[in-house]
Amino acid sequence: MSQLGVRVSVKAPSNIALIKYMGKRDGDGNLPENGSLSLTLDSLCTFAEVVRSQHSSGSDVTWVPELPLEARRRSDELVSPARLPELSDSGVFKVIRHTERVREATSKIFPKYGLKCSKNGNFEIRTANTFPAASGIASSASSFAALTLAVAQACAEEPLQFRTLWERNMELRRDFSEISRQGSGSSCRSFEGPWVCWEGASARALTTRMPEMTDLVLLVASHPKRVSSSEAHGWVKTSPLWNERVERANSRLKQLQAALDEGDLQSVSTLAWSEFWEMHSLFHTSQNPFSYWEAGSIQILQALSSWVSHPSQSSSEKPPVVTMDAGPNVHVLVPTVEASRWRSRLEDLFPGIEILEDRQGSGAEILEVEKLNS
Ligand code: DP6
Repeated sequence: MSQLGVRVSVKAPSNIALIKYMGKRDGDGNLPENGSLSLTLDSLCTFAEVVRSQHSSGSDVTWVPELPLEARRRSDELVSPARLPELSDSGVFKVIRHTERVREATSKIFPKYGLKCSKNGNFEIRTANTFPAASGIASSASSFAALTLAVAQACAEEPLQFRTLWERNMELRRDFSEISRQGSGSSCRSFEGPWVCWEGASARALTTRMPEMTDLVLLVASHPKRVSSSEAHGWVKTSPLWNERVERANSRLKQLQAALDEGDLQSVSTLAWSEFWEMHSLFHTSQNPFSYWEAGSIQILQALSSWVSHPSQSSSEKPPVVTMDAGPNVHVLVPTVEASRWRSRLEDLFPGIEILEDRQGSGAEILEVEKLNS
């Protein structure tokens, strides 16, 4: 049956790294200097919609600053309202370039899985995030993962065949995660979950003995970053601490994998604490030192330090896993069964603070595929 177009809606979560991707190898493709490891989130995510129309012989890609249909339809289920990303001209250019990249990649990847491409026509892209832009919650991770999946699905001649394979075939997800990495490195960890390790070109989910986790994000500020994480990747190499950073990060990665494997929350907490302090120390000691920290971030870290180093003696309660991304906000990861207790405790410690709450998730998913016949 000849179809005139397709509308695809997908959702991809953000992820929060405990071992950080910070520092890239020379060359294109966002290959990391060291391995990294993250927890995939769920509702802190990007909705992406791609409409591919074949009414014309064109192959234009347009970013449309409107909310995707599914973001509007599902507004009642969202932890936080979906918002349009504030894209600069270069941000729009990155979206368009990545759309072309994924479209090209389908001709190589699809045949491996017996899928046929149909990638002609004009593409319209709409996206929305469920968290404040540029707040240090990795919006580029969820945005590029969502865009990658939506464009790939839109290029499938048999949309249902692609959707079924996406849900069942981990290799297919990994192939597109590698393409996504070329748009934004950390996005390659948003295709699986909950725990994902990224080394070299590809990322893979880990089997662990960890309890189900919840991320409580203490929002200190949500103004745009002064230094983008892409710029930070370059600056860190000018720090005297960069020497042996790669060895330290890779060794911490091994220790973290072992701790996750054992379900050893105490060690996970200690390792995550050292790692984010080290990443921020690289920022603070680069040739032109810069910082993402605000006064509120330091106040929170001081209060939480006693919980991390001296967990409550009175019960079997484990310490929280605390980390910060390239932003001022503090992520407190705790077992989901203890999340409401931790939330009340944090609200008492930091009155008036806004807390975003999300649980662990399993990666980018297809929400709707609709053939457009008129
Ligand atoms: C601090 O993935 O945003 O969040 O590859 O240039 O797009 P690009 O960088 P990006 O870097 C994120 C770095 C980080 C740490 C992490 O998520 O591992």
